[in-house]
Amino acid sequence: MRVLVIHGPNLNLLGRREPEIYGGSTLEQIDDSLVALATELGVELETFQSNQEGEIVERIQTAMGSVDAILINPAGLTHTSVVLRDALLATGIRFVEVHLSNIHAREEFRRVSLLADAADGVVCGFGSESYLLGLRALVSTA
Ligand code: DQA
Repeated sequence: MRVLVIHGPNLNLLGRREPEIYGGSTLEQIDDSLVALATELGVELETFQSNQEGEIVERIQTAMGSVDAILINPAGLTHTSVVLRDALLATGIRFVEVHLSNIHAREEFRRVSLLADAADGVVCGFGSESYLLGLRALVSTA
């Protein structure tokens, strides 16, 4: 099984960015823990981060035929991006949406996700552990 992890805009700043909300782990530490878990679970894993919506759409499109599942933290694009939703639906690749913070316990606008109803599931509110729970769920339900 081949899994693509996508991190949306501003997640490259993790560790320094509002640590009281997003925790102290850097993106590199999160990616390292995902790679370790992927090895334990016996799946191939690639990670990708971009601050550009179009680059994320391109990466999703090129995943067609080479990736079995996507683990995505769409970050701010969660709440705004029809094109990200369209790209995921166009590929037909199953995906799980994850968030470090509990988006339902924050500002009103964060409670809406344009992706969630199309996802296999959503994990939010467990800090960096959300990613690991999401990867486990993707693999165990494959
Ligand atoms: C986030 C939540 C989003 O609302 C926010 O825009 C982010 C990070 C999270 O992981 O908690 O950038 O996706």
